[in-house]
Amino acid sequence: AQRGEIDSTLAPFALTQQQLQGVRDRMRAGLERGLRKDTHGTASVKMLPSYVYRTPDGTENGKYLALDLGGTNFRVLVVKIRSGLRKSVRMYNKIYAIPLEIMQGTGEELFDHIVQCISDFLDYMGMKNTCLPLGFTFSFPCRQTGIDKGTLVSWTKGFKATDCEGNDVVDMLREAIKRRNEFELDIVAVVNDTVGTMMTCAYEDPECEIGLIAGTGSNVCYMEEMRNIETVEGDEGRMCVNTEWGGLGENGSLEDIRTKYDREVDEGSLNVGKQRFEKMTSGMYLGEIVRQILTDLTRRGLLFRGHITECLKTRGIFETKFLSQIESDRLALLQVRSILKNLGLDSTCDDSIIVKEVCGAVSRRAAQLCGAGMAAVVEKIRENRGLDHLNITVGVDGTLYKLHPHFSGILKDTVRELAPKCDVTFVLSEDGSGKGAALITAVARGEI
Ligand code: BG6
Ligand code: GLC
Repeated sequence: AQRGEIDSTLAPFALTQQQLQGVRDRMRAGLERGLRKDTHGTASVKMLPSYVYRTPDGTENGKYLALDLGGTNFRVLVVKIRSGLRKSVRMYNKIYAIPLEIMQGTGEELFDHIVQCISDFLDYMGMKNTCLPLGFTFSFPCRQTGIDKGTLVSWTKGFKATDCEGNDVVDMLREAIKRRNEFELDIVAVVNDTVGTMMTCAYEDPECEIGLIAGTGSNVCYMEEMRNIETVEGDEGRMCVNTEWGGLGENGSLEDIRTKYDREVDEGSLNVGKQRFEKMTSGMYLGEIVRQILTDLTRRGLLFRGHITECLKTRGIFETKFLSQIESDRLALLQVRSILKNLGLDSTCDDSIIVKEVCGAVSRRAAQLCGAGMAAVVEKIRENRGLDHLNITVGVDGTLYKLHPHFSGILKDTVRELAPKCDVTFVLSEDGSGKGAALITAVARGEI
């Protein structure tokens, strides 16, 4: 009886081929809708123009500063790019913490903190007096009207600083630099992390025309035909579009596959009702879905001897790295139990088997949903180009993709099944999106 109840609890997470095709088709419709002018501002998949017209070609040159804000780590970097036959990129970076009270404090505090970190970095590098061009990776939805102009549409993930939404992030950074009145910077580009990642990978592989992040958040960018981007003037060539696909479902289009656990996670989040696809697919939320299921099973007496502990009630205890550890095939159940123990959960051997199953069901669905989304993107590119067959590379980054033992494999299998006319190669970005931001800055500089 217990077995049956657990199976039926997890059954809605096992999506059929037909359901996945449905998600692919809804993603496709979302992409199309977001590109249209008449939906401007209301589309759930925002399709934000990046003003990046091409990937790097090896002629990029110079020394740049880059900021990388919005993932697990906040980094400040110096990036030295050399062009020509012996093209190369060298980077120096430092990671800084962004305390929770700053992520969710006032906008001024957040940007003052960022500038404080830049100041520390410039001191550390002995570069206070050089005014370097800067590329700003800002991993949130920004409505851009140029490479160096971007209005924050809304915070996502764990950020919620006041007085930022609706304002230009480059202006906010410039003002914070002015307030500090200690050094000058030339802010050239604001870049989404997907775009930075695509550029980082495209530097090595010219077939890379898609950037994917499967980390704290979930998002994709790709090279779209200018003629299809109704919100930007001009019909020639291509532009990279930041899809913000995490917003899919905000208009209700995913309700048939969302479970009550997904709804609970949404209701406990900082942005209720928003980023519904992201909340089913990214690292920040998968552990929360698991926790909701475990709590429910415990309440029903099917787990942890029916004891709901304080720990189980704590939001955010199940980080992605625990899911990744628990699901590792190399791990003996005894080790699973010890991970749970460290989280404050006393488990029996049977409990640990159930926990592992729950984690597997949640992460598998996440990888399949990402795969269905990706199938929509590559099919669109193939059709854009009038090809019977498309070969394309995706540059990928993010802790979920990198650390989880099965996520990337399931993602690739799903893309293969749902986009049979495309050969999709996934390349891991080793250098983060800061490198890509510097390359974009170099390209933008060359074109001024
Ligand atoms: C990093 C990028 O490598 O990957 C970040 O430089 C990005 O900008 C990140 O946000 C995504 O991963 P995560 O898991 O840290 O959110
Ligand atoms: C969130 C952000 C998006 C970013 C993604 C990955 O979805 O809205 O801009 O690319 O997280 O970091």
